[in-house]
Amino acid sequence: MTPAPLDDLATQRATILAAIAALTSLDELRDAEPSLVGRRSVLATLQRSLGSLDPGERRDAGALLQEARRDIEVALQSRREELRAGERSLRLEADRLDLGDVVVSDVRWPMAAGHPGLVATTQRSLEDVFVAMGFTVAEGPEVESDWYNFEALNMPPAHPARGLWDTFYVDLGEPETVVLRTHTSPTQIHLMEEAVAHDSLPIHSVMPGRCYRRDTPDARHLATFHQVEGLVVDRGITFADLAGVIETFTRAYFGVGIEARLRPGYFPFTEPSAEFEVTCTICRGGGCRTCSQTGWIELGGCGVMDPAVFEAVGIDSEVWSGFAFGFGIDRCAQMHHRIADMRALIENDTRFLRQFS
Ligand code: PHE
Repeated sequence: MTPAPLDDLATQRATILAAIAALTSLDELRDAEPSLVGRRSVLATLQRSLGSLDPGERRDAGALLQEARRDIEVALQSRREELRAGERSLRLEADRLDLGDVVVSDVRWPMAAGHPGLVATTQRSLEDVFVAMGFTVAEGPEVESDWYNFEALNMPPAHPARGLWDTFYVDLGEPETVVLRTHTSPTQIHLMEEAVAHDSLPIHSVMPGRCYRRDTPDARHLATFHQVEGLVVDRGITFADLAGVIETFTRAYFGVGIEARLRPGYFPFTEPSAEFEVTCTICRGGGCRTCSQTGWIELGGCGVMDPAVFEAVGIDSEVWSGFAFGFGIDRCAQMHHRIADMRALIENDTRFLRQFS
């Protein structure tokens, strides 16, 4: 039998459950919670009234009340979760940004549109010049093993010439030394290996790309820069072919008034080797800060292929001969556009960049 104070328990329980179901927001729920299950709630009042019962009745009534309380708490908790989920999806919906909804008249025109950077456009025009001269364009990786960057280019470990190209090493936990390439010359090796594998000699290619050196930036140097490598492997090639290509390129790219000159140089992978310089365009040869008062700017190096390199890739130097060159794309951009300090190329000052759009 239900003890007298709990006569209405079923009705009260139903009323409370209905009130919970009728809650429409988390705020409402928070406000209603004390009157539903708190110290001032019907349940608490009933609990207190049980004190007047004798122990046996009190135990039965307590169990009934406990059961009702559990039902109410479960209902409250699940309503809380429903409301929370509902409010969250409303908030997400409100925050949703409809990108199709932008009113065109709200956009401020002209919008600043990007454009290719100066180095990229310079690379394209250099490629154009060489393609017109009959070269194909190839690319190689920026991260190379020691073998491609040094050894195959006739620089065994501890060769003093490696000091010229001290660089950034990449630790891949591999036994081999891996470097950020210090020049585009390792791409020559890739190309020759491929040509040997596919029996597709001769080669007439240029290979543009990014290179890295441990250089301190100044008016003519950047630690990250770009080169275009050139490689010809054919029959009966001499230094005169190389000089002719350099001459033709200089005329085509820089135009009249800019001379090319080759000065004796040293590279372990070419013999003989030369340094390729052009008239400084900043002072037109008169001497200035950019060219250290010499009137000339070194663009890169070149030379006749050393038979040791052919041997490293398995090309018969009795049959084949060739030449290679490698010069700075950033330097070409600098000389073509008469930029006194090369560091402007990496400062990302839009007033500078805009001039080359
Ligand atoms: N790789 C050389 C450098 O970066 C340039 C070079 C290329 C020299 C090809 C000779 C032949 O300085």
